[in-house]
Amino acid sequence: MSLGTSSGLGRASLGEYPTYRPRRLRQSAALRRLVQETRLEVQRLVLPLFVRAGRKVRRPIGSMPGVFQLSVDELLREATGAFAAGVPAVLLFGIPEKKDEKASGAYSPRGVVQEAVRQLKRELPELVVITDVCLCEYMSHGHCGIVGGPGRAAGRVLNDPTLRLLARAAVSHAEAGADLVAPSDMMDGRVGAIRSALDAAGHVETPILSYAAKFASAFYGPFREAAESAPRFGDRRSYQMNPANVEEAMREVALDIREGADLVMVKPALAYLDVLYRVKAEFGYPTAAYAVSGEYSMIRAAGQRGWLDEKAVTIETLLAVRRAGADLVITYAATALAGWLREGGI
Ligand code: PBG
Repeated sequence: MSLGTSSGLGRASLGEYPTYRPRRLRQSAALRRLVQETRLEVQRLVLPLFVRAGRKVRRPIGSMPGVFQLSVDELLREATGAFAAGVPAVLLFGIPEKKDEKASGAYSPRGVVQEAVRQLKRELPELVVITDVCLCEYMSHGHCGIVGGPGRAAGRVLNDPTLRLLARAAVSHAEAGADLVAPSDMMDGRVGAIRSALDAAGHVETPILSYAAKFASAFYGPFREAAESAPRFGDRRSYQMNPANVEEAMREVALDIREGADLVMVKPALAYLDVLYRVKAEFGYPTAAYAVSGEYSMIRAAGQRGWLDEKAVTIETLLAVRRAGADLVITYAATALAGWLREGGI
């Protein structure tokens, strides 16, 4: 994909080409495909999955029709289906049996995600298994870091003490066999802390996909039902980014790259295409875009009511994400999309 390059036929020079008729190349489907600039390819898709304890559990998520909390056996079935459809990668989130104030479930070798990774890598060794590294699903208060007790820092999310727990979680995922770890907490310095911990534990080859520019977004609403991770008090605005800021996003990405990120992410996707475009253009790193829960649910809901053509709108929005610069497209619609892509024509 070319980004920011001039076609040579700028707006100013159009007058010199009085015979140019763009519709000539739109006359047939075959012609349109020949000159199509961007494609949505199945090998770029990542499917997020929610795993919880138990057997034969397939618990629907009310605000995300078609998405479920799955026990490991059901998760294997879901991943097998996705992989068979051509989806090359999954991104795992865990819902632990017990939450506490130090997110023990996040780094327990017997945690749900660690168990899911082991089984997935055993059954589907070719499937790329990415793990979300965060504490919010495992904390009783639902925040992404340690919360200060009585005193000056009461109720505040503490940055540096949190890094140690994130690093432990990442190492435990790598130990279980994760192909990539993806920190989504937005603490400062976490990529560096995770990189050092992985290296010290002998996982020098495990790449980090950093949620580098993650905005404090209302589009995460349905996810918080899915992952049972809504904060019990306050919000995430002291660690996730202000949606108004793009220059700051560039600094966040630069920092994460300096600390050792191998891939970077912009999240959410649709409302942040300008950020995505600039991140890809400026850094040229492998870049992921996360079409988050609210983006999925909006399109699903309108589709179910017959207000929008769900398939067409899904394809159009994710094509826009690719056009803006995403190499990897993380979407809850990945399996369905893989089927549509096989039918041809995108
Ligand atoms: C965990 C995390 C969240 C998402 C991914 N990782 C929720 C949040 O930050 O509140 C959101 C994903 C989605 O909405 O699909 N920190």
